[in-house]
Amino acid sequence: MLVKQDGVFLLELDSSQKNRFLVKLWSKKGGDNRTYVFALYHCIMKPKNDLLLRVAKGEKTERPPVWLMRQAGRILPQYRALRATVAGFKALVSQPELAAEVTVQPVDELGVDAAIIFSDILVIPEAMGLDYEMVEKKGPWFPTTIQNSNDITKLRSGESAAEHLEYVYEAIRLTKKSLNNEIPLIGFAGAPWTIFAYMVEGGGSKTFSKAKKMLYQEPVLSHQLLEKITESTIAYLHTKIAAGVDLVQVFDSWAGLLSPSQYQEFALPYMERICRSIDQVPKIVFARGAQHTWPAFQNISADVIGLDWTIRAKDARKLLGAEQVVQGNIDPCILYAQASDIQENTIKMLKDFGGHHIANLGHGVYPDTPLDNVRVFVDTVKNFSYENS
Ligand code: CP3
Repeated sequence: MLVKQDGVFLLELDSSQKNRFLVKLWSKKGGDNRTYVFALYHCIMKPKNDLLLRVAKGEKTERPPVWLMRQAGRILPQYRALRATVAGFKALVSQPELAAEVTVQPVDELGVDAAIIFSDILVIPEAMGLDYEMVEKKGPWFPTTIQNSNDITKLRSGESAAEHLEYVYEAIRLTKKSLNNEIPLIGFAGAPWTIFAYMVEGGGSKTFSKAKKMLYQEPVLSHQLLEKITESTIAYLHTKIAAGVDLVQVFDSWAGLLSPSQYQEFALPYMERICRSIDQVPKIVFARGAQHTWPAFQNISADVIGLDWTIRAKDARKLLGAEQVVQGNIDPCILYAQASDIQENTIKMLKDFGGHHIANLGHGVYPDTPLDNVRVFVDTVKNFSYENS
Protein backbone atom coordinates (compact mmCIF):
# COMPACT_ATOMS: atom_id res chain seq x y z
CA MET A 1 0.00 0.00 0.00
CA LEU A 2 1.23 3.47 -0.83
CA VAL A 3 1.05 5.96 2.02
CA LYS A 4 1.85 9.64 1.66
CA GLN A 5 3.68 11.01 4.69
CA ASP A 6 5.50 14.31 5.06
CA GLY A 7 5.40 14.86 1.31
CA VAL A 8 6.98 11.55 0.29
CA PHE A 9 5.49 8.20 -0.59
CA LEU A 10 6.09 5.26 1.70
CA LEU A 11 5.60 1.75 0.48
CA GLU A 12 3.98 -0.39 3.14
CA LEU A 13 4.63 -4.06 2.44
CA ASP A 14 2.64 -5.37 5.38
CA SER A 15 0.47 -3.87 8.06
CA SER A 16 3.30 -3.65 10.61
CA GLN A 17 5.29 -0.43 10.45
CA LYS A 18 8.54 -2.39 10.09
CA ASN A 19 8.32 -3.01 6.42
CA ARG A 20 7.66 0.52 5.32
CA PHE A 21 10.34 2.04 3.20
CA LEU A 22 10.93 5.19 1.34
CA VAL A 23 10.39 5.16 -2.38
CA LYS A 24 11.25 8.69 -3.33
CA LEU A 25 13.36 7.62 -6.28
CA TRP A 26 14.54 8.75 -9.68
CA SER A 27 12.94 12.10 -9.32
CA LYS A 28 13.71 13.96 -12.54
CA LYS A 29 13.96 17.68 -12.05
CA GLY A 30 10.48 19.05 -12.54
CA GLY A 31 9.25 15.58 -13.52
CA ASP A 32 6.45 13.65 -11.96
CA ASN A 33 7.93 10.90 -9.84
CA ARG A 34 4.48 9.48 -9.14
CA THR A 35 4.65 7.36 -12.30
CA TYR A 36 7.89 5.71 -11.19
CA VAL A 37 6.60 5.17 -7.69
CA PHE A 38 3.51 3.45 -9.02
CA ALA A 39 5.48 1.35 -11.48
CA LEU A 40 7.63 0.18 -8.58
CA TYR A 41 4.63 -0.35 -6.37
CA HIS A 42 2.80 -2.50 -8.89
CA CYS A 43 5.94 -4.43 -9.65
CA ILE A 44 6.54 -5.33 -6.00
CA MET A 45 2.90 -5.72 -5.02
CA LYS A 46 1.82 -7.77 -8.05
CA PRO A 47 -1.06 -10.06 -7.07
CA LYS A 48 -0.31 -13.81 -7.09
CA ASN A 49 -3.06 -14.30 -9.66
CA ASP A 50 -2.25 -11.52 -12.10
CA LEU A 51 -4.04 -12.99 -15.12
CA LEU A 52 -6.33 -9.96 -15.47
CA LEU A 53 -3.42 -7.50 -15.36
CA ARG A 54 -1.40 -9.49 -17.88
CA VAL A 55 -4.30 -9.67 -20.33
CA ALA A 56 -5.15 -5.99 -19.83
CA LYS A 57 -1.58 -5.08 -20.78
CA GLY A 58 -1.83 -7.12 -23.98
CA GLU A 59 0.01 -10.28 -22.92
CA LYS A 60 -1.01 -13.73 -24.09
CA THR A 61 -2.24 -16.03 -21.33
CA GLU A 62 -3.17 -19.67 -20.91
CA ARG A 63 -6.86 -18.82 -20.39
CA PRO A 64 -8.93 -15.63 -20.09
CA PRO A 65 -9.46 -14.13 -16.63
CA VAL A 66 -13.07 -13.97 -15.45
CA TRP A 67 -15.10 -11.62 -13.23
CA LEU A 68 -18.65 -10.27 -13.43
CA MET A 69 -19.83 -6.71 -13.61
CA ARG A 70 -21.95 -6.05 -10.49
CA GLN A 71 -20.66 -9.21 -8.78
CA ALA A 72 -20.40 -7.37 -5.44
CA GLY A 73 -23.85 -7.32 -3.88
CA ARG A 74 -27.02 -8.25 -5.72
CA ILE A 75 -26.68 -12.03 -6.20
CA LEU A 76 -25.22 -13.29 -2.94
CA PRO A 77 -27.33 -14.42 0.03
CA GLN A 78 -24.56 -13.25 2.37
CA TYR A 79 -24.86 -9.75 0.81
CA ARG A 80 -28.61 -9.69 1.38
CA ALA A 81 -28.12 -10.87 4.97
CA LEU A 82 -25.62 -8.08 5.67
CA ARG A 83 -27.78 -5.55 3.81
CA ALA A 84 -30.73 -6.43 6.09
CA THR A 85 -28.74 -5.43 9.17
CA VAL A 86 -28.14 -1.82 8.03
CA ALA A 87 -30.39 1.14 7.25
CA GLY A 88 -29.94 0.90 3.48
CA PHE A 89 -27.58 0.68 0.52
CA LYS A 90 -25.79 3.92 1.36
CA ALA A 91 -25.06 2.71 4.89
CA LEU A 92 -23.14 -0.19 3.36
CA VAL A 93 -21.31 1.97 0.85
CA SER A 94 -20.22 4.52 3.45
CA GLN A 95 -18.90 2.08 6.05
CA PRO A 96 -15.49 0.90 4.84
CA GLU A 97 -15.41 -2.33 6.88
CA LEU A 98 -18.77 -3.40 5.44
CA ALA A 99 -17.96 -2.28 1.90
CA ALA A 100 -14.72 -4.28 2.08
CA GLU A 101 -16.61 -7.33 3.33
CA VAL A 102 -19.12 -7.16 0.45
CA THR A 103 -16.26 -6.75 -2.03
CA VAL A 104 -14.59 -9.95 -0.89
CA GLN A 105 -17.79 -12.05 -0.69
CA PRO A 106 -17.96 -12.99 -4.41
CA VAL A 107 -14.24 -13.77 -4.40
CA ASP A 108 -14.69 -16.34 -1.63
CA GLU A 109 -17.93 -17.67 -3.05
CA LEU A 110 -17.14 -17.86 -6.76
CA GLY A 111 -13.36 -17.85 -7.11
CA VAL A 112 -13.34 -15.03 -9.67
CA ASP A 113 -10.02 -13.64 -10.91
CA ALA A 114 -10.66 -10.07 -9.68
CA ALA A 115 -12.56 -8.16 -7.03
CA ILE A 116 -14.40 -4.91 -7.74
CA ILE A 117 -14.75 -2.45 -4.91
CA PHE A 118 -18.29 -2.25 -3.55
CA SER A 119 -19.47 1.33 -4.08
CA ASP A 120 -21.54 3.20 -6.64
CA ILE A 121 -20.97 5.60 -9.51
CA LEU A 122 -23.23 8.11 -7.74
CA VAL A 123 -20.76 8.88 -4.95
CA ILE A 124 -19.24 11.44 -7.34
CA PRO A 125 -22.31 13.72 -7.63
CA GLU A 126 -22.63 13.47 -3.87
CA ALA A 127 -18.99 14.47 -3.34
CA MET A 128 -19.58 17.40 -5.70
CA GLY A 129 -22.44 18.52 -3.45
CA LEU A 130 -25.51 16.92 -5.04
CA ASP A 131 -26.94 14.37 -2.61
CA TYR A 132 -28.73 11.24 -3.82
CA GLU A 133 -31.00 8.73 -2.19
CA MET A 134 -31.27 5.06 -3.08
CA VAL A 135 -34.98 4.30 -3.03
CA GLU A 136 -35.81 0.66 -2.25
CA LYS A 137 -36.88 -1.27 -5.37
CA LYS A 138 -36.72 1.91 -7.48
CA GLY A 139 -33.14 3.05 -7.68
CA PRO A 140 -31.35 6.38 -7.36
CA TRP A 141 -33.19 9.64 -6.77
CA PHE A 142 -31.78 13.19 -6.49
CA PRO A 143 -33.93 15.58 -4.43
CA THR A 144 -32.30 18.52 -6.27
CA THR A 145 -31.04 18.51 -9.83
CA ILE A 146 -28.81 20.71 -11.94
CA GLN A 147 -30.84 23.28 -13.90
CA ASN A 148 -28.76 26.38 -14.50
CA SER A 149 -25.34 27.96 -14.33
CA ASN A 150 -25.80 28.95 -10.70
CA ASP A 151 -26.33 25.28 -9.77
CA ILE A 152 -23.11 24.38 -11.57
CA THR A 153 -21.08 27.15 -9.92
CA LYS A 154 -22.08 25.85 -6.50
CA LEU A 155 -20.68 22.37 -7.18
CA ARG A 156 -17.31 21.31 -5.83
CA SER A 157 -14.91 19.79 -8.35
CA GLY A 158 -11.48 18.15 -8.70
CA GLU A 159 -9.56 17.47 -5.49
CA SER A 160 -12.04 19.35 -3.35
CA ALA A 161 -14.78 16.93 -4.44
CA ALA A 162 -12.58 13.82 -4.33
CA GLU A 163 -11.48 14.53 -0.77
CA HIS A 164 -15.06 13.85 0.38
CA LEU A 165 -14.71 10.19 -0.55
CA GLU A 166 -12.32 9.08 2.17
CA TYR A 167 -14.67 6.18 3.02
CA VAL A 168 -14.10 4.72 -0.46
CA TYR A 169 -10.31 4.99 -0.16
CA GLU A 170 -10.43 3.37 3.28
CA ALA A 171 -12.63 0.55 1.91
CA ILE A 172 -9.98 -0.01 -0.79
CA ARG A 173 -7.17 -0.16 1.78
CA LEU A 174 -9.12 -2.63 3.93
CA THR A 175 -10.04 -4.76 0.91
CA LYS A 176 -6.42 -4.90 -0.22
CA LYS A 177 -5.42 -6.18 3.20
CA SER A 178 -8.13 -8.78 3.20
CA LEU A 179 -7.39 -9.94 -0.36
CA ASN A 180 -3.83 -10.53 0.81
CA ASN A 181 -2.48 -9.91 -2.67
CA GLU A 182 -4.16 -12.99 -4.12
CA ILE A 183 -6.04 -11.22 -6.96
CA PRO A 184 -6.27 -7.68 -8.36
CA LEU A 185 -8.80 -5.13 -7.14
CA ILE A 186 -10.74 -3.07 -9.70
CA GLY A 187 -11.74 0.52 -9.00
CA PHE A 188 -14.41 2.27 -11.05
CA ALA A 189 -16.21 5.49 -11.83
CA GLY A 190 -19.14 6.54 -13.97
CA ALA A 191 -18.31 8.23 -17.27
CA PRO A 192 -18.97 11.99 -17.31
CA TRP A 193 -22.02 11.71 -19.61
CA THR A 194 -23.64 9.01 -17.44
CA ILE A 195 -23.06 11.05 -14.26
CA PHE A 196 -24.33 14.20 -16.02
CA ALA A 197 -27.47 12.26 -17.00
CA TYR A 198 -28.29 11.46 -13.36
CA MET A 199 -27.44 14.95 -12.10
CA VAL A 200 -29.73 16.67 -14.62
CA GLU A 201 -32.51 14.08 -14.84
CA GLY A 202 -32.66 13.42 -11.11
CA GLY A 203 -32.99 9.64 -11.32
CA GLY A 204 -33.26 6.70 -13.67
CA SER A 205 -35.20 7.19 -16.92
CA LYS A 206 -35.80 5.27 -20.15
CA THR A 207 -34.91 8.26 -22.29
CA PHE A 208 -33.01 10.72 -20.06
CA SER A 209 -34.72 13.36 -22.19
CA LYS A 210 -34.22 16.19 -19.65
CA ALA A 211 -30.49 15.54 -19.70
CA LYS A 212 -30.45 15.31 -23.51
CA LYS A 213 -32.51 18.49 -23.73
CA MET A 214 -29.80 20.33 -21.84
CA LEU A 215 -27.19 19.12 -24.34
CA TYR A 216 -29.23 20.59 -27.23
CA GLN A 217 -30.50 23.77 -25.56
CA GLU A 218 -27.53 24.71 -23.37
CA PRO A 219 -24.37 23.23 -24.91
CA VAL A 220 -22.04 25.71 -23.17
CA LEU A 221 -23.57 25.02 -19.79
CA SER A 222 -23.50 21.28 -20.49
CA HIS A 223 -19.76 21.43 -21.18
CA GLN A 224 -19.22 23.37 -17.94
CA LEU A 225 -20.92 20.61 -15.96
CA LEU A 226 -19.12 17.85 -17.88
CA GLU A 227 -15.80 19.62 -17.17
CA LYS A 228 -16.48 19.67 -13.44
CA ILE A 229 -17.52 16.02 -13.40
CA THR A 230 -14.41 15.06 -15.39
CA GLU A 231 -12.04 16.93 -13.06
CA SER A 232 -13.67 15.30 -10.03
CA THR A 233 -13.54 11.85 -11.61
CA ILE A 234 -9.85 12.22 -12.47
CA ALA A 235 -8.97 13.28 -8.91
CA TYR A 236 -11.13 10.47 -7.54
CA LEU A 237 -9.57 7.75 -9.72
CA HIS A 238 -6.06 8.96 -8.92
CA THR A 239 -6.77 8.74 -5.20
CA LYS A 240 -8.33 5.29 -5.63
CA ILE A 241 -5.19 4.14 -7.43
CA ALA A 242 -3.02 5.56 -4.64
CA ALA A 243 -5.17 3.64 -2.14
CA GLY A 244 -4.40 0.42 -4.00
CA VAL A 245 -6.70 -0.42 -6.94
CA ASP A 246 -4.83 -2.33 -9.65
CA LEU A 247 -7.03 -1.44 -12.62
CA VAL A 248 -9.92 0.95 -13.28
CA GLN A 249 -13.15 0.69 -15.25
CA VAL A 250 -15.17 3.66 -16.48
CA PHE A 251 -18.87 2.82 -16.90
CA ASP A 252 -20.73 4.78 -19.59
CA SER A 253 -24.01 3.02 -18.91
CA TRP A 254 -26.16 5.53 -20.81
CA ALA A 255 -23.85 5.97 -23.81
CA GLY A 256 -26.49 4.26 -25.98
CA LEU A 257 -28.89 7.15 -25.51
CA LEU A 258 -26.69 9.61 -27.39
CA SER A 259 -26.50 9.92 -31.13
CA PRO A 260 -23.01 9.33 -32.54
CA SER A 261 -22.50 13.06 -33.11
CA GLN A 262 -23.63 13.91 -29.57
CA TYR A 263 -21.31 11.25 -28.18
CA GLN A 264 -18.50 12.74 -30.22
CA GLU A 265 -19.15 16.20 -28.81
CA PHE A 266 -20.29 15.60 -25.22
CA ALA A 267 -18.81 12.29 -24.14
CA LEU A 268 -15.75 11.07 -26.03
CA PRO A 269 -13.44 14.05 -25.26
CA TYR A 270 -14.08 13.61 -21.52
CA MET A 271 -13.52 9.83 -21.67
CA GLU A 272 -10.28 10.58 -23.47
CA ARG A 273 -9.21 13.11 -20.85
CA ILE A 274 -9.79 10.56 -18.07
CA CYS A 275 -7.91 7.80 -19.88
CA ARG A 276 -4.96 10.01 -20.78
CA SER A 277 -4.66 11.23 -17.19
CA ILE A 278 -4.04 7.69 -15.92
CA ASP A 279 -0.87 5.81 -16.73
CA GLN A 280 -0.32 4.01 -13.44
CA VAL A 281 -2.75 1.14 -14.05
CA PRO A 282 -4.68 -0.36 -16.99
CA LYS A 283 -8.00 1.24 -17.96
CA ILE A 284 -11.21 -0.47 -19.14
CA VAL A 285 -13.89 1.61 -20.86
CA PHE A 286 -17.43 0.30 -21.17
CA ALA A 287 -20.05 2.16 -23.22
CA ARG A 288 -23.26 0.21 -23.17
CA GLY A 289 -25.50 0.22 -26.23
CA ALA A 290 -23.09 2.28 -28.31
CA GLN A 291 -21.16 0.09 -30.74
CA HIS A 292 -20.18 3.16 -32.72
CA THR A 293 -17.97 4.27 -29.80
CA TRP A 294 -15.89 1.10 -29.58
CA PRO A 295 -13.55 1.77 -32.54
CA ALA A 296 -13.23 5.37 -31.30
CA PHE A 297 -12.01 4.03 -27.94
CA GLN A 298 -8.99 2.54 -29.72
CA ASN A 299 -7.59 6.07 -30.01
CA ILE A 300 -8.10 7.43 -26.50
CA SER A 301 -5.46 5.49 -24.57
CA ALA A 302 -7.85 2.93 -23.11
CA ASP A 303 -6.33 -0.52 -22.61
CA VAL A 304 -9.49 -2.62 -22.69
CA ILE A 305 -12.80 -2.07 -24.48
CA GLY A 306 -15.85 -3.49 -22.73
CA LEU A 307 -18.49 -4.92 -25.08
CA ASP A 308 -22.19 -5.39 -24.41
CA TRP A 309 -24.01 -8.50 -25.65
CA THR A 310 -25.29 -6.96 -28.88
CA ILE A 311 -22.30 -8.04 -30.95
CA ARG A 312 -21.00 -11.49 -31.95
CA ALA A 313 -17.42 -12.16 -30.82
CA LYS A 314 -16.34 -12.75 -34.42
CA ASP A 315 -17.87 -9.45 -35.55
CA ALA A 316 -16.20 -7.63 -32.64
CA ARG A 317 -12.88 -9.02 -33.83
CA LYS A 318 -13.62 -7.75 -37.37
CA LEU A 319 -14.46 -4.34 -35.95
CA LEU A 320 -11.55 -3.99 -33.52
CA GLY A 321 -8.87 -6.41 -34.74
CA ALA A 322 -7.35 -9.54 -33.20
CA GLU A 323 -4.96 -7.68 -30.88
CA GLN A 324 -7.41 -5.35 -29.17
CA VAL A 325 -8.04 -6.42 -25.58
CA VAL A 326 -11.80 -6.71 -25.08
CA GLN A 327 -14.03 -7.54 -22.14
CA GLY A 328 -17.46 -9.18 -22.12
CA ASN A 329 -19.87 -10.01 -23.51
CA ILE A 330 -22.27 -12.86 -22.88
CA ASP A 331 -25.93 -11.91 -22.38
CA PRO A 332 -26.52 -11.78 -18.58
CA CYS A 333 -29.83 -13.60 -19.22
CA ILE A 334 -28.01 -16.69 -20.45
CA LEU A 335 -27.44 -17.31 -16.75
CA TYR A 336 -31.13 -18.19 -16.43
CA ALA A 337 -30.65 -21.07 -18.91
CA GLN A 338 -29.62 -24.66 -18.25
CA ALA A 339 -26.05 -25.43 -17.20
CA SER A 340 -25.28 -27.14 -20.52
CA ASP A 341 -26.45 -24.07 -22.49
CA ILE A 342 -24.36 -21.78 -20.30
CA GLN A 343 -21.28 -23.94 -20.87
CA GLU A 344 -21.84 -24.20 -24.62
CA ASN A 345 -22.39 -20.46 -25.10
CA THR A 346 -19.46 -19.54 -22.87
CA ILE A 347 -17.04 -21.83 -24.67
CA LYS A 348 -18.21 -20.55 -28.06
CA MET A 349 -17.57 -16.99 -26.88
CA LEU A 350 -14.08 -17.81 -25.58
CA LYS A 351 -13.12 -19.58 -28.80
CA ASP A 352 -14.54 -16.85 -31.01
CA PHE A 353 -12.69 -14.06 -29.17
CA GLY A 354 -9.58 -16.28 -29.20
CA GLY A 355 -7.31 -14.46 -26.74
CA HIS A 356 -6.79 -10.85 -25.66
CA HIS A 357 -10.08 -11.26 -23.87
CA ILE A 358 -11.43 -10.80 -20.34
CA ALA A 359 -14.46 -13.05 -19.82
CA ASN A 360 -17.43 -11.18 -18.40
CA LEU A 361 -21.09 -10.56 -19.07
CA GLY A 362 -22.31 -7.93 -21.54
CA HIS A 363 -23.72 -5.94 -18.60
CA GLY A 364 -24.12 -6.38 -14.84
CA VAL A 365 -25.41 -9.65 -13.42
CA TYR A 366 -29.13 -9.44 -12.57
CA PRO A 367 -30.16 -9.72 -8.91
CA ASP A 368 -32.30 -12.86 -9.30
CA THR A 369 -29.67 -14.89 -11.17
CA PRO A 370 -29.25 -18.37 -9.67
CA LEU A 371 -25.88 -18.51 -7.96
CA ASP A 372 -25.19 -22.02 -9.21
CA ASN A 373 -25.50 -20.78 -12.78
CA VAL A 374 -23.02 -17.98 -12.11
CA ARG A 375 -20.71 -20.67 -10.81
CA VAL A 376 -21.12 -22.69 -14.03
CA PHE A 377 -20.09 -19.61 -16.04
CA VAL A 378 -17.04 -18.87 -13.87
CA ASP A 379 -15.92 -22.51 -13.74
CA THR A 380 -16.33 -22.96 -17.50
CA VAL A 381 -13.91 -20.09 -18.08
CA LYS A 382 -11.49 -21.29 -15.42
CA ASN A 383 -11.38 -24.80 -16.94
CA PHE A 384 -10.83 -23.47 -20.46
CA SER A 385 -7.45 -23.48 -22.13
CA TYR A 386 -6.65 -21.77 -25.44
CA GLU A 387 -4.16 -24.51 -26.19
CA ASN A 388 -6.60 -27.42 -25.82
CA SER A 389 -9.58 -25.80 -27.44
O1 CP3 B 1 -19.72 -4.23 -9.87
C1 CP3 B 1 -19.89 -4.32 -8.63
O2 CP3 B 1 -20.32 -5.34 -8.10
C2 CP3 B 1 -19.50 -3.15 -7.75
C3 CP3 B 1 -20.58 -2.39 -7.24
C4 CP3 B 1 -21.38 -1.50 -8.13
C5 CP3 B 1 -22.65 -1.02 -7.71
N1 CP3 B 1 -23.06 -0.10 -8.62
C6 CP3 B 1 -23.35 -1.42 -6.48
C7 CP3 B 1 -24.81 -1.29 -6.42
C8 CP3 B 1 -21.08 -0.89 -9.35
C9 CP3 B 1 -19.89 -1.07 -10.29
C10 CP3 B 1 -22.14 0.00 -9.64
C11 CP3 B 1 -22.17 0.87 -10.82
C12 CP3 B 1 -23.41 1.55 -11.20
N2 CP3 B 1 -24.33 2.13 -10.38
C13 CP3 B 1 -23.79 1.82 -12.53
C14 CP3 B 1 -22.96 1.45 -13.76
C15 CP3 B 1 -23.04 0.03 -14.10
C16 CP3 B 1 -24.28 -0.40 -14.81
O3 CP3 B 1 -24.96 -1.28 -14.27
O4 CP3 B 1 -24.56 0.12 -15.89
C17 CP3 B 1 -24.99 2.52 -12.49
C18 CP3 B 1 -25.78 2.99 -13.69
C19 CP3 B 1 -25.33 2.72 -11.12
C20 CP3 B 1 -26.50 3.46 -10.57
C21 CP3 B 1 -27.34 2.59 -9.71
N3 CP3 B 1 -26.97 2.10 -8.47
C22 CP3 B 1 -28.66 2.11 -9.98
C23 CP3 B 1 -29.43 2.41 -11.25
C24 CP3 B 1 -29.06 1.33 -8.88
C25 CP3 B 1 -30.42 0.69 -8.63
C26 CP3 B 1 -30.61 -0.54 -9.39
C27 CP3 B 1 -29.56 -1.63 -9.21
O5 CP3 B 1 -29.69 -2.50 -8.35
O6 CP3 B 1 -28.60 -1.59 -9.96
C28 CP3 B 1 -27.97 1.29 -7.98
C29 CP3 B 1 -27.96 0.57 -6.69
C30 CP3 B 1 -26.87 -0.40 -6.49
N4 CP3 B 1 -25.54 -0.19 -6.78
C31 CP3 B 1 -27.00 -1.71 -5.91
C32 CP3 B 1 -25.71 -2.25 -5.85
C33 CP3 B 1 -25.31 -3.56 -5.25
C34 CP3 B 1 -28.31 -2.33 -5.38
C35 CP3 B 1 -28.53 -1.73 -4.04
C36 CP3 B 1 -29.27 -2.54 -3.05
O7 CP3 B 1 -28.66 -3.35 -2.35
O8 CP3 B 1 -30.46 -2.27 -2.95
